[in-house]
Amino acid sequence: MSPRPEIAHYDPFSGPPRFNSAARVGVRPGTELIHPIAVTGARPFRYTVAGLPTGISVDEAGVLRGTAPTVAGTHCIDVEVANEKGTVKRVVELVVGDTLALTPPMGWNSWNIHATAVNSQVIIATARAIVETGMRDLGYRYVNIDDYWHATSRAPDGRPRANPDTFPDGIEAVADEVHSLGLSLGLYSDAADRTCAGCYGSYGYERIDAETYAAWGVDLLKYDYCYAPAARSAAVSRYRAMADALAGTDRSIVFSVCEWGIRKPWEWARDAGGNMWRTTPDIFDNFGWTPLGVRFIARRNLRLADHAGPGAWNDPDMLLVGNRGDGRATGVLRTPNQLPGLLAGRRIWSFTGLNDVQVHTHVSLWAMMAAPLLASHDLNASSDFDLALLRNPEILAIDQDPLGAQGRLVGADPKGGLSTVGGIDAGSSVRRRTGRSVGLWQVVKPLADGGFAVSVTNLLRTKRNVTVDLDELAACPHTPEPVAGAYDVVDAWTMESMGDRSIIRASLPGHGTRVWVRRPR
Ligand code: GAL
Repeated sequence: MSPRPEIAHYDPFSGPPRFNSAARVGVRPGTELIHPIAVTGARPFRYTVAGLPTGISVDEAGVLRGTAPTVAGTHCIDVEVANEKGTVKRVVELVVGDTLALTPPMGWNSWNIHATAVNSQVIIATARAIVETGMRDLGYRYVNIDDYWHATSRAPDGRPRANPDTFPDGIEAVADEVHSLGLSLGLYSDAADRTCAGCYGSYGYERIDAETYAAWGVDLLKYDYCYAPAARSAAVSRYRAMADALAGTDRSIVFSVCEWGIRKPWEWARDAGGNMWRTTPDIFDNFGWTPLGVRFIARRNLRLADHAGPGAWNDPDMLLVGNRGDGRATGVLRTPNQLPGLLAGRRIWSFTGLNDVQVHTHVSLWAMMAAPLLASHDLNASSDFDLALLRNPEILAIDQDPLGAQGRLVGADPKGGLSTVGGIDAGSSVRRRTGRSVGLWQVVKPLADGGFAVSVTNLLRTKRNVTVDLDELAACPHTPEPVAGAYDVVDAWTMESMGDRSIIRASLPGHGTRVWVRRPR
């Protein structure tokens, strides 16, 4: 048994009000806005909101709703939220323009847990769980239907239609329900004539599909690349065709590019209209260094920090929290369905899942990398530990920081491939001899307020003691210019304040991670 990491079990329904997540939201001119302000604390809340543009109002659940102004520009909305324990104020920036996903999308996706067994009840039950667990108030917003929502064929007029058995009232009815809860709906298609699971794809139908998705109320499209040509130029033009079609609709639809990092999408997907792009093959429920494992995926994604920013995110795939080896897609590796006869869909390997320390490291690294945070387990069966991992406001604030900088390796293991810049001492002679801290990843993520977050991950199985020098890190090339005056250091997972200090000593279990945030006072 791995030791269970020491983390706060934050209760989103008690205490003074606290703002979480996206304080900047992008919306296209003249399109529908459904955006939860995302406040946790004891209910009821009293909202006082000033500076709303005409056409937008706030409902009793704190969701901004309405139609965005038709002219591009930024609207600063002053929001004050009070409950019996206190009052908080914040400016929410509504950025009307062409850029969506100003912070990494957060939500849930059906594939890893349900794979082809997705249906409307699952989606609606998940949306309700997001509200009931307080996840909406922490910033989780998108409920994404992945592959296999389709009928066996398009309608006679070429329009897409949903499977009448699994989505009997169609996608629109599901979207209505999801929207009524203040959440947004994601859908899935493929840039070829078939999806990975064998349903019809969108190639040649981009316009009619985008228009239909918009009419149904879809807010995000994940666009896969099975059965499509290998050349990068073909991928660019196929993604561009769908991005243009989506931009031509009357909805704000976030565009998620999924070609598994094969054609270096970080170099072109932003220009092709993507808001996020998968950087690696599918994640499976293990911590390994193979292309299916958390460590491999993190290592590759960590090298891509230069390419991420508001509106355009590296996507190292979904979160494995709560899957425990049981996800239909993440628990078993099979041969591709495209293979002929008996070779198709054969079980190659079963995964037993991440242990508590490894899953905690996984979430820590995804937040440090400003990754989209898409849970992918049964949200109605989350354990207390799963919820503690997914509902930590300090960790989510790192991921959702409006600067949108992806964390970088600093003073890293040579496997990380980056130069060593001090700031960490592994308590051994290794660093003194080689100039590197072997088996440790130290990641630094600059924050919008002039502070930074730092994480240290122990890649080895054995316990280690580390010393982190925050002053030394503050002098690194990518850290913000130090602000004069005092700082507050917070242990992000325990949410405990550590005062103003520069040296932190910590003990890391094998595969364990610690995360700290230093903010100007
Ligand atoms: C894969 C994709 C997965 C899932 C699956 C559906 O290509 O990477 O995340 O969407 O297709 O068939």
